[in-house]
Amino acid sequence: MSITEDIATLKKEKNAVILAHYYVDEEVQHIADYVGDSFYLSKIATKTDADIIVFCGVEFMGESAKILNPSKRVFMPDASADCPMAHMASKEEIVRIKKEYEDVAVVCYINSTAELKTFSDVCVTSSNAVKIVKNLPNKNIYFIPDKNLGRYVAKQLPDKNIILNDGCCPRHVEITADMVIKAKEKHPDAKFAAHPECSEEVLDYADYIGSTSGIIDYVANSSSKEFLIGTVDGVFAEIKKIAPDKKLYTVKEGQICENMKKITLEKVLKVLKDETNEVFVDEELARKSMAPLTRMLELAK
Ligand code: 13P
Ligand code: SF4
Repeated sequence: MSITEDIATLKKEKNAVILAHYYVDEEVQHIADYVGDSFYLSKIATKTDADIIVFCGVEFMGESAKILNPSKRVFMPDASADCPMAHMASKEEIVRIKKEYEDVAVVCYINSTAELKTFSDVCVTSSNAVKIVKNLPNKNIYFIPDKNLGRYVAKQLPDKNIILNDGCCPRHVEITADMVIKAKEKHPDAKFAAHPECSEEVLDYADYIGSTSGIIDYVANSSSKEFLIGTVDGVFAEIKKIAPDKKLYTVKEGQICENMKKITLEKVLKVLKDETNEVFVDEELARKSMAPLTRMLELAK
């Protein structure tokens, strides 16, 4: 039997579901039951009736799935796959900002540790951040951990006072405005679609800014034929599948997330077989971090 057949057999036997983010390798996306952006995957995690969730993504994704659905067993194919940005805010600074601004709402990008979520009023993802922040009654917003997504939200909502934190995605900030200019010179007819984790200078050149799903939908539904993609090139797999006629170019060669890249078919099979790398979240931590996550699901409706 092939490895994909072994995975399918074990998945059925154990009533498991496989969720995968668009940044994991194409062959891993192929064996997943659901592939999507962070928001879509967190919604799926609350709805599944499988007993086991295998989360092909990074730690905050598996952790959020477990927090949102504590009765399920959640497994990570690689326990070391972590998003560095998830740690780029501090509880001390949150406490300080809360003292300085009485009415402040702490808005936490889902790319964050469970501990940071416990200090937050609401979580957001790149697909719903503008909508959720807009509808909060608070004028002052402390946006953690991503300064680039925070700045993007601030630009859309000039009536809010958005206080930025100094965190960022090490991969997306490697894309520079110079690279975009050069890529545009090479492909003058291409539209540029970028993730809001890119820097402000890069986003200034974008024809479209959105989450991974947003970028995929934009490319698939646009009348243009050529696109420069300003995010991790894992999104190419889905675009090739649903819009094979589109021509895609990376702005920066080899735009990968090395943590997402750690997920392999062999590791998916191993966790299904041996039930290793199970996600456990301390009860108190889970209870406190569930509130901003469920508030996100409510407010994003
Ligand atoms: P999306 O929610 O757009 O899929 O983004 C997740 C992520 O980690 C981006 O770097
Ligand atoms: Fe984290 Fe960046 Fe990887 Fe997304 S692409 S998981 S933000 S390191």
